Amino acid sequence: MNTRASSGEILVGQTIGFSGNPLTEGPGTARHDARGAVLIKDGKIAEVGNADDLRRAHPEADVTDYGDRLILPGFVDAHLHYPQTAIIASWGKRLIDWLNSYTFPEEIRLSDPAYARQIAGRFFDLSLGHGTTTVASFCTVSPVSVTAFFEEAEARGLCAIGGKTCMDRNAPEALTDTAQSAYDDSKALLETWHGRGRLSYAVTPRFAPTSTREQLEALGALWAEFPDCPMQTHLSEQTDEVTWVAELFPEARDYLDVYEQTGLLGRGGLYGHAIHLTERERRRLLEEGGALIHCPTSNTFIGSGLFDMGGLAAEGQIIGLATDTGGGSSFSMLRTMAAAYEIGQLRGTPLHPSALLWLATEGSARALRLEHRVGTLAPGTDADIVVLDLASTPAIAQRAAEANDIWEAVFPTIMMGDDRAVHDVRIAGKRWQAGA
Ligand code: GUN
Ligand code: ZN
Repeated sequence: MNTRASSGEILVGQTIGFSGNPLTEGPGTARHDARGAVLIKDGKIAEVGNADDLRRAHPEADVTDYGDRLILPGFVDAHLHYPQTAIIASWGKRLIDWLNSYTFPEEIRLSDPAYARQIAGRFFDLSLGHGTTTVASFCTVSPVSVTAFFEEAEARGLCAIGGKTCMDRNAPEALTDTAQSAYDDSKALLETWHGRGRLSYAVTPRFAPTSTREQLEALGALWAEFPDCPMQTHLSEQTDEVTWVAELFPEARDYLDVYEQTGLLGRGGLYGHAIHLTERERRRLLEEGGALIHCPTSNTFIGSGLFDMGGLAAEGQIIGLATDTGGGSSFSMLRTMAAAYEIGQLRGTPLHPSALLWLATEGSARALRLEHRVGTLAPGTDADIVVLDLASTPAIAQRAAEANDIWEAVFPTIMMGDDRAVHDVRIAGKRWQAGA
């Protein structure tokens, strides 16, 4: 059913909202309503509250009753590579070999506009099928892949961030640009797509090893011209990579310093992985307000290391959560939350389900500076919503049946859920239908 423009639609189900950050302030910041409701009007969330209250206040609105299913903001995936959709789950390599063996050959294929459109469409449908309504994605070096990404996002009405990956060394020739062409092509794409409808453009140097200092400086200059754009890159994912960066940039104090010296450290900066950080890097990230994007399925899959969620959150870092498709091994933010929990366990910091849900929604939205638009159920934000079935498989259902509270009810879905748990997805209020 489409939302009627005048009287709106009330979604009824369980709801969870947050008055603070449960990662740092604890689960007391979460509000659970077993019979909650969300009023959608004109594609936006108009009100949130108790179902009986909302129905009484808006008797003219259509009602969709989801029973005891859980209504959440659509998931926000803060770092991924849509061009790697078709090579997800490729066996047996660590980062640099994985890039050379699987990633770069596939990314070359997306210079073909028809293939890029096919993969972009496939990616968004997979992602939406897993309940993710906003992504921040790297595209390839080819502008064609950026056009495909934004056209497919726009066709689905999505709030999405994308950017042309820039590389001018240490990559196949078919995937390299130059400092000047990276600047020129990025700027042209930015001017076409940034702020068009629900779309945003991210300045996107892949990572320090595949750019010369000249290219990083050119992109730093571009970001300075458009500071409200995000800037996305990778930081300290594997120890071999950190060593390589030190060899390539001997004048830099550490990995982050390469970005710092080239104008690529600041608010709106999205630093994927950020595992092997020095004290100086942590301090500078905190001072400058860069966001660390945790990609847990990728970190275990490629063998990168264990993100220090407990320590980084406690010191006040901005942290988002992401699949890192296709280094990550799942399109699902449920599976991603599960992996974050498992890594937390290995580091002695078990993450509460409220913190995991917050990271996958509001936390990632805050990292992307989109929290005024997506990632919460707050009135005035866009009605991007996922409705979860908390008993989607027999294994989950039998555990959830024993739950004593909402957290015990939702945690089995976090740990064992996948796209079967996604009962409904709304994009600006409208129901998403696969293939429609
Ligand atoms: N570092 C540079 N490029 C990539 C990439 O595509 N995936 C991951 N996981 N790390 C990277
Ligand atoms: Zn990545």
